[in-house]
Amino acid sequence: MSIRRKLTISYIAMLLIPIISFIVVTFFTGTIFKNRLGNAYNVSLGEAPIENIIEKDSRAIDNIKDYILKNNKDLLKDEFFSEQEKYLNKHTGVIVRKNDEFIYISPSLKNNFTYNLLPQFGKNTNNSKIDFLKQNKFVILKQYDFYMEDESKISIFLVLNTTSSESIFYEFIAVEIGILIAILIITNGMLTFFMSKSIVKPLEKLKNGAVLIKNGNLDFKLSSSENDEIGQLSRVFEEMRFKLKESLELQLQYENNRKELISNISHDLKTPVTAIKAYTEGIRDGIADTPEKMERYVNTIYRKAVDMDRLIDELFLFSKLDLKKIPFNFEKVELSDYLNDCIEELRFDLEKKNINITFVNELKEASYVIADREKLKRVIMNIVENSVKYINKAVGKIDIRINENHEYVYVSFKDNGMGISKKSLQYIFDRFYRADSSRNSNTGGSGLGLAISKKIIEEHGGKIWAESDENSGTDIIFTLKKWRDDCIEKDINS
Ligand SMILES: Nc1ncnc2c1ncn2[C@@H]1O[C@H](COP(=O)(O)OP(=O)(O)O)[C@@H](O)[C@H]1O
Ligand SMILES: [Mg+2]
Repeated sequence: MSIRRKLTISYIAMLLIPIISFIVVTFFTGTIFKNRLGNAYNVSLGEAPIENIIEKDSRAIDNIKDYILKNNKDLLKDEFFSEQEKYLNKHTGVIVRKNDEFIYISPSLKNNFTYNLLPQFGKNTNNSKIDFLKQNKFVILKQYDFYMEDESKISIFLVLNTTSSESIFYEFIAVEIGILIAILIITNGMLTFFMSKSIVKPLEKLKNGAVLIKNGNLDFKLSSSENDEIGQLSRVFEEMRFKLKESLELQLQYENNRKELISNISHDLKTPVTAIKAYTEGIRDGIADTPEKMERYVNTIYRKAVDMDRLIDELFLFSKLDLKKIPFNFEKVELSDYLNDCIEELRFDLEKKNINITFVNELKEASYVIADREKLKRVIMNIVENSVKYINKAVGKIDIRINENHEYVYVSFKDNGMGISKKSLQYIFDRFYRADSSRNSNTGGSGLGLAISKKIIEEHGGKIWAESDENSGTDIIFTLKKWRDDCIEKDINS
């Protein structure tokens, strides 16, 4: 899920969760407070609570009414009124007024009650109307007016003291505000926690990774299963780390290769130089004291110098190919004709060494390839030279064969030589690699021939590989791109 989506959902949740949970909690607390209110006033709040109270208090009112009507001469018996309190609801009281004089006031109404706000006799005839004496937190539930025998006007007020309901109400509001704040803190806290966990944690991981890379440590793996922006960033980061590591390793390998190259060159140059030095010393010190000896010494020196010259040439060529500093002159070459020419050139030398060379062309029609004639010749010479060197049979054989697929022509050189061990096969195209471990063996060679051939073939856009059975022979195969009519010589050379 994207971070934007997460944020949106979290904002909606921050709104909805508090609202819904507040409504639910309010429903329960509301019920609790309603019950408390009902208990405080000894009524059930479900159906007409005021009427309920009035109804319950009616006994006291009736008693008072009867009492006043019966005892109109002698009204001042406080004990009677006090007695009636027990029939009244806990929070209701009565006020009895005769003309303008108050003859009884319930003790619960004695404080804070503004008596002159009470309605006049006969004013509050509509009994369903409830008068609020707001400033005093008292409510007149009902006013009962009647005349005594002597025409005195009697008003009995049934008054409800709302103080406790108000305090219950305020308590309810306070509890509600508390609950609301708690719900807001909990939901926001939790959502913030989860959000930060899903955003900050992966960011921290990423930061730690960056610090590791900064300190040169690339051997860790940054995994992320998240699909959001940070997850994507983590994956790109991991890719970057991997590439960086790869390129560092490659650089290290280049560095090692360079060192190895220098050591190989030194070794391979040292051998002929040592020999030349020794033979020259021999001549100088007069060891070559006969003309035959002298001739042998000089010939050896010459041979060693030739070896060195060749090695230096090959090295030079290889390093120029490696640096891609050699221009290739690609052209359209008819392969079969080209190979026949090469074979003719080689045949004389090979026959002298008792090696038969054959050529089988399996192509259906004349096949043109893209090649640099001179460089390709070098490849062929290297391969044939190897075969000659490593043929260990009385009669040598080199079979050249060409076939094709729709894009490439395959050229194969199969000999009946000593073959190459499985172990060595994968290395023979590496520079300086020679399967016969003794570098000074009579076969000679620098170990650069096949490395040069590989570079040249790759520069042609082809591949080169070897197949071999130890003792029965070696097959070196390379591919060349076929010439297509839409190839323009200028294009291939650029
Ligand atoms: N036709 C072959 N038969 C047997 N071994 C071969 C053949 N061609 C190449 N090799 C092995 O591959 C190695 C590398 O060949 P190359 O690069 O031409 O170096 P060099 O010929 O100078 O030794 C050789 O030393 C040899 O061991
Ligand atoms: Mg060779």
